[in-house]
Amino acid sequence: MATEKTTAQSSDSISSVLSERRKFPPSAEFSSNANVSSMEQYEKLYADAAADPEKYWGEQAEQFHWFKKWDTVLDWKPPYAKWYDGGKTNICYNAIDVHVKSWRKNKAAIIWEGEEGNERILTYGELHRQVCKFANVLKIAGIKPGDRVAIYMGMVPELIIAVLACARVGAVHNVIFAGFSAHAITERVNDSRAKLVICADGTRRRGGSINLKNIVDEAIVNTPSVRSVIVLKVTNETVHMHDGMDHWWHDLMGLAVDDCEPAQLDSEHPLFVLYTSGSTGKPKGILHTTAGYMVHAATSFKYVFDIKDEDIYFCTADVGWITGHTYMAYGPLLNGATVFMYEGAPNYPQWDRFWDIINRHKITIFYTAPTAIRAFIRAGNEWVTKHDLRSLRLLGTVGEPINPEAWMWYHKYVGQEKCPIVDTWWQTETGGIMVSPLPGATPTKPGTATRPLPGIMVDVVRKDGTTCDANEGGYLVIKQPWPSMLRTIYGDNERYEKTYWSEFQNMYFTGDGARKDDDGYIWIMGRVDDVVNVSGHRLGTSEVESALVSHESVAEAAVVSRPDEIKGNALVAFVTLKDEYEGDMKLREALRNHVAKEIGPIAKPDEIRWAKGLPKTRSGKIMRRLLRELATSNEVKGDVTTLEDFGVLETLRGQEDEN
Ligand code: WT7
Repeated sequence: MATEKTTAQSSDSISSVLSERRKFPPSAEFSSNANVSSMEQYEKLYADAAADPEKYWGEQAEQFHWFKKWDTVLDWKPPYAKWYDGGKTNICYNAIDVHVKSWRKNKAAIIWEGEEGNERILTYGELHRQVCKFANVLKIAGIKPGDRVAIYMGMVPELIIAVLACARVGAVHNVIFAGFSAHAITERVNDSRAKLVICADGTRRRGGSINLKNIVDEAIVNTPSVRSVIVLKVTNETVHMHDGMDHWWHDLMGLAVDDCEPAQLDSEHPLFVLYTSGSTGKPKGILHTTAGYMVHAATSFKYVFDIKDEDIYFCTADVGWITGHTYMAYGPLLNGATVFMYEGAPNYPQWDRFWDIINRHKITIFYTAPTAIRAFIRAGNEWVTKHDLRSLRLLGTVGEPINPEAWMWYHKYVGQEKCPIVDTWWQTETGGIMVSPLPGATPTKPGTATRPLPGIMVDVVRKDGTTCDANEGGYLVIKQPWPSMLRTIYGDNERYEKTYWSEFQNMYFTGDGARKDDDGYIWIMGRVDDVVNVSGHRLGTSEVESALVSHESVAEAAVVSRPDEIKGNALVAFVTLKDEYEGDMKLREALRNHVAKEIGPIAKPDEIRWAKGLPKTRSGKIMRRLLRELATSNEVKGDVTTLEDFGVLETLRGQEDEN
């Protein structure tokens, strides 16, 4: 039986074995030019914000354009928050129009490089024209404020244009990562009841291409809410355009004029739904709203990335994930920054693509994931050292704990021992960065996201909610509402309350284990539930299990993770087959492909082991902890793994009982 709650009970004690003593203060040069330039300044900001959070968040909101100013900063009826209630604004207006009215009009907003090396530059002025046109296209398509729009495309500027156009007219965007399968699209489109799907004909990947339109065609056979599909030509795939339903992006853009008044939206108007894994099979539609998200996306970006008008900022995340929403699209654009966007794979045509990009485009800030860093380490230092990376001044990471050795490599080879590293902790639900060094202020230590941002009250607590002592492992919680917090799980308030607010009283439970060290730095110890982090993406192991069990040959499946050098975690599936099936190589491949089809290639189990039976408690709950141990410490791998391995587990059966 899968439990819905991200339950603290699932891990009795969290012990931490890491002890890291290296410390790296920012250089005097970096600090003197930084937006926050000393620890004293940070401490004061933090203390002032903690003393009066509403005053702090009210001040942060002053910098934006409001059609009508808010009446109250925060209206908090736990666990439901309204931020800037009574106000009217538009995040798209704040992200582009305000810059177009300034000297930034002809500044590059997006510098894009395709996998084949082709380049496009969109100034704020050009981005504004395109977004206005496409906003008019949405109106032509009958999209009204509050309607949901699904977006399924690769990393091209039109993805950001589509997102901003939705925000301009008040439509709720639901970006679906272009690596997801037809089944995953169907599920997300149906849950959000999207009226319109925006996709591309295809997306380039490692010199080849993937036909996205075919996948959409398969997905929307079972989505009654979808009225039309708009298709952007990217790869010139052969696609089938269905009369009355499908329309070419370029045809519609040809009909639209390039000026469009932004909708004057309530602060709490829904901005987007983004699906993320939970501990049951069904993904959770995380709902974010307009004004609060805008305020934190912009201010966190300014503080954490120390953004300056001269910077060229490169974030390697896909817009299909929250990092892409907040720190590729909204955060940088709200600050009038120049964003560099790359279409393709980091190892295409070779392992030095990112370093080559950094050198050619003189990137100054680079934000990536630990999983990518580990892959670069494995590929070899020579790919990095042959490029001139002197333009870089700041580095960042996100997605999972970075192991200190990977941090040191990043510091040495990419940062040339001079760039601060911001290790940023946050979640799809938090909307923006919560815990991170401020690069001109915070001395960093490899492996910790350090201290919370001003206005963010995080703590590490015991099961009973009391604060842990220094270096005592516990549960990471957030004790005060924050502007970019999720408002609910789309269409499911009950699940929202249960998942995040029932474990501890009046505190948001993150699902992560953590400890605070003597300096108050937060060390994340990973997730405490059945959700694993693979390559920086959160996957519900039960989703993978559901996918496996949906195959005709599978009777039962349990999926656990084991540490993996490159991916952070690898997925190991223990599968019990129906009697008439034989576990062999062929079936193993078939099952892996089946999961890829059901969820997407990132969820493919790295290993599948055949099990005659799964170790269970008397109440029938699979003892995943035992399987985790087996998956982690067993020398025997892959094909040679046979049923006998489970003899060990069989003997444990009935001796140990988990609730
Ligand atoms: C989970 C959230 C936030 C965008 C990417 C992932 C883990 C995230 C860090 C970090 C240690 C981290 C946590 C968190 N995580 N950043 N800097 N150090 N762990 O978003 O898919 O919502 O996953 O990723 O476990 O709860 P997500």
